[in-house]
Amino acid sequence: MIYALANQKGGVGKTTSTVNIAACLAEAGHRVLLLDADPQANATSGVLGGDRPSPDAATTADVLLDGARVPAVVMPTVVPGLDLVPSGPDLAGAAVELVARPGRDRLLRDALTEVRDAYSFVFIDCPPSLDLVTINALVAATRLIVPVQCEYYALEGLSRLMETVGEVRARLNPDLVIAGLLMTMHDPRTRISGEVVQEVRRHFPGLVFDAVIPRNVRVTESPSHGEPVIRYDPHCAAADAYFEVTKEIVARG
Ligand SMILES: Nc1ncnc2c1ncn2[C@@H]1O[C@H](COP(=O)(O)OP(=O)(O)OP(=O)(O)O)[C@@H](O)[C@H]1O
Ligand SMILES: [Mg+2]
Repeated sequence: MIYALANQKGGVGKTTSTVNIAACLAEAGHRVLLLDADPQANATSGVLGGDRPSPDAATTADVLLDGARVPAVVMPTVVPGLDLVPSGPDLAGAAVELVARPGRDRLLRDALTEVRDAYSFVFIDCPPSLDLVTINALVAATRLIVPVQCEYYALEGLSRLMETVGEVRARLNPDLVIAGLLMTMHDPRTRISGEVVQEVRRHFPGLVFDAVIPRNVRVTESPSHGEPVIRYDPHCAAADAYFEVTKEIVARG
């Protein structure tokens, strides 16, 4: 199974969710690959325990633009069973460079074919845009998870994302299924948080995961330790919610 976590809206919890769900599955004993497809490289720094990839380490950009082979690029992380294809600033120009490439939509899909048998799950952390890098992720993926922040403008942009998914499915990847929408940064003290969850559930009946990720200070602390929150503080409320949603993801198949 290849999961892409995408939402062109910035700061909605894509990276936090990718890293933690991937880590939950690795902790459950699965072999999991995390591919960082964002030049911000937050997923990369979020699983390396404070280390940085060496400056000459190959990255997702090398896979997409230079034909680097995924097995030659993966590195271990602080989570046993979780491997990483790191990202870096060199990916920033990739979307533009890709435009002129033959087969530009399916380069990531082709690159991942080689490791299909090596991992039970692949997770792709997308950048906050619907550029060609994200399209490559959607073409490579069999499942899409859409993190949605519990805030007033949550629905903004979702219809455009769904249109893009429809186009990808029609033209490039009929296997792409929406696994679910994941509500993030829920704050039970504010009325708006609950209202947004209800509204998104009404708009997308049956698609929103039951588990809702609460806003939790441990989540904001964990990246500075280079660890997913499910390891940094496995018993905090957000970690609990990530374990719960991971069970739902597996159950939805
Ligand atoms: N459940 C949570 N509780 C508290 N803070 C959170 C939670 N989830 C995410 N955050 C914080 O919100 C910010 C944005 O989260 P994250 O980086 O996961 O979003 P993103 O969608 O990947 O952002 P971008 O679009 O820039 O890639 C980060 O500072 C993160 O630590
Ligand atoms: Mg991110």
